[in-house]
Amino acid sequence: MPKRWLVALALSVALAGCGDDEEQASSGETPAGETAEPAAPPPPLRELVGERFEALPTDLELEMPKVLLGRALYHDTRLSGDETLSCATCHVVSAGGAEPRAVATGIRGQQGPINSPTVLNSAYNFRQFWDGRAADLLEQAAGPVTNPIEMGGEWPVILGRLRGDEELVAQFRAVYGGEGPDAVTQERVLEAIAEYERSLVTPSDFDRWLGGDDSALDEQEQRGLRLFVDTGCTTCHDGRNLGGGSFQRMGLVHNYFERRGGEITEADRGRFNVTHEDDDMHKFKVPTLRNVELTAPYFHDGSERELSGAVRTMAYVQLGRELEDAQVNDIVAFLRALTGTLPAHALLPGADGASPAEGAAPTEGGAPAEGAAPAEGAAPSGGDATREG
Ligand code: HEC
Ligand code: HEC
Repeated sequence: MPKRWLVALALSVALAGCGDDEEQASSGETPAGETAEPAAPPPPLRELVGERFEALPTDLELEMPKVLLGRALYHDTRLSGDETLSCATCHVVSAGGAEPRAVATGIRGQQGPINSPTVLNSAYNFRQFWDGRAADLLEQAAGPVTNPIEMGGEWPVILGRLRGDEELVAQFRAVYGGEGPDAVTQERVLEAIAEYERSLVTPSDFDRWLGGDDSALDEQEQRGLRLFVDTGCTTCHDGRNLGGGSFQRMGLVHNYFERRGGEITEADRGRFNVTHEDDDMHKFKVPTLRNVELTAPYFHDGSERELSGAVRTMAYVQLGRELEDAQVNDIVAFLRALTGTLPAHALLPGADGASPAEGAAPTEGGAPAEGAAPAEGAAPSGGDATREG
């Protein structure tokens, strides 16, 4: 989306906030008799929302044996250098698909530079990673495995371990054919994981509303949706994932980094790190807002712990708007209606990585509901669960 257009939109939204009355009052040209004209009633919600969003598909075509193989590999710590981490360590499927820490903690406790985004519905992001450096899930999955501060693995070692596991080899052969342990290859490991990720689609109350069920959103959620559109959030958070479709500058109207404080890190540069074009400085892939209730802390730096705080900051730095508490609450209520239901196969029977939320999770339908929220205890090592960024 062109920046100029966005700025114009932000401004028009800001100006709209000044109120029509003022404009009318200052205009001496209004013919007598027309001054008393009542303000036009707000458009019906469905009209306002229009085609901005798209519901998640409910008829995904998946290769289930491959999905289940991918699920096993996603949770397999043999993919990391010292066999302590799996994908599920930083992307806890039962807890919103992200990590309840400001920045990811990799192998041997190393602090990464950036917050873990959710893997749920990530197939609908136009690119992967905050800076978009991977084109799709397949390309993405290769990254963390060998990244020295994430899983720190080496493929020959990993393949050696997996090929020694007869049961797993049989699973590979059932999906891919082939003879003996050679059925296990790097490409197949990554492909199966990507297929599993593609299956992690979480329809929510909002999808039911989009499908035509007015009662799927209560009054407050509907007010929140209206505000979400009226305030201008949909300029960036739209489409199927309410995000995931463009790169946008963090701090379009007001400087985010000054407001946050602290030094500007390399990760703060965002898309610039990939293109080295000045225009991409501090641009990030707009994150999806699906399941956002569960994925605290927020922003690429994990610096915001509260969803209400993230909403307030967004309105201010991206749109130049200062929201009232009631408005923030309504928008948050709407965002909670984006918390979806995991497909029944999503969770590994009996365990989901290091998350103690697992006990609450694999119920019928496996909704990542209240109980699965990343509470204090949801981090692998209790005490240092949440750090400020
Ligand atoms: C040590 C923690 C850690 C581990 C382990 C890890 N990730 Fe990630 N993951 C991250 C972080 C941090 C990012 C964001 C990095 C960035 O954007 O620069 C990320 C990004 C992603 C994304 C991109 C999502 C988006 O919206 O851009 C996907 C998909 C993903 N990881 C899947 C995986 C898979 C699959 C594995 C296992 C092979 C894995 N991750 C292992 C921390 C981790
Ligand atoms: C100009 C584009 C733009 C607009 C307008 C915008 N956002 Fe965002 N939003 C982003 C970007 C980019 C990020 C990620 C920034 C970062 O992490 O540094 C983001 C992040 C967020 C997050 C944190 C998500 C996470 O997983 O960390 C929330 C919540 C959010 N936006 C809500 C809103 C709301 C509510 C509005 C309207 C008041 C809004 N946004 C308006 C671009 C936008």
